[in-house]
Amino acid sequence: MKNIAVFASGKGTNLQAIIDNIAKGTLKVNLALVISDKQNAFALKRAKRAGIKALYLDPGKFSSRQAYERQICGYLKKDKVDLIVLAGFMRILSPFFVRRYKNRILNIHPSLLPAFKGGQAIKDAYSYGVKVTGVTVHLVDEKVDHGPIIEQRVVAVSGLESVGELEAKIHKAEHEVYPEAIARIASRRFILKGRRVVIR
Ligand code: GRF
Repeated sequence: MKNIAVFASGKGTNLQAIIDNIAKGTLKVNLALVISDKQNAFALKRAKRAGIKALYLDPGKFSSRQAYERQICGYLKKDKVDLIVLAGFMRILSPFFVRRYKNRILNIHPSLLPAFKGGQAIKDAYSYGVKVTGVTVHLVDEKVDHGPIIEQRVVAVSGLESVGELEAKIHKAEHEVYPEAIARIASRRFILKGRRVVIR
């Protein structure tokens, strides 16, 4: 079974979906540790509550981004982590880290990439007036919200809902799609044809 680590900075609802799917047996991985750059991240509480090792690493205590990431790498190595799952991790990983874990870092983004990159994707899509938006799970490469796409799910926008209601729909989709995508990447071999992820 693959060892995974989840990196999270916030509420951790995606982390919770991962924990719940592992408990149900629908996601067969070992969640070895949860790392956060925010001391008050609720994600850390969720991890502890589930009996999972949870680490807060303060970026302010390190001389550089790379020094911070080297420390993280130490923990990942110690726990033999094969796959890193970003779930609302609000730091951009440096090329050093991305290369070290090439094609072994997943991220979830609340839009249909490449539309609406960045931190306000749901609001941006809503304000733009799109009729469909959704979620994207992708491999992380050196550019933000850019790597090869593993999975996408469309969420319709009726135009009658509030941005909060759209947010709720998107999060619900995330909580279904992410555990499935992680399971697929963790258990099956996949090949990359350029930007295309082909699950075998
Ligand atoms: C999610 O919307 C995810 O797509 C984005 O950050 C948010 C994290 O939410 N990358 P949570 O902390 O998992 O609740």
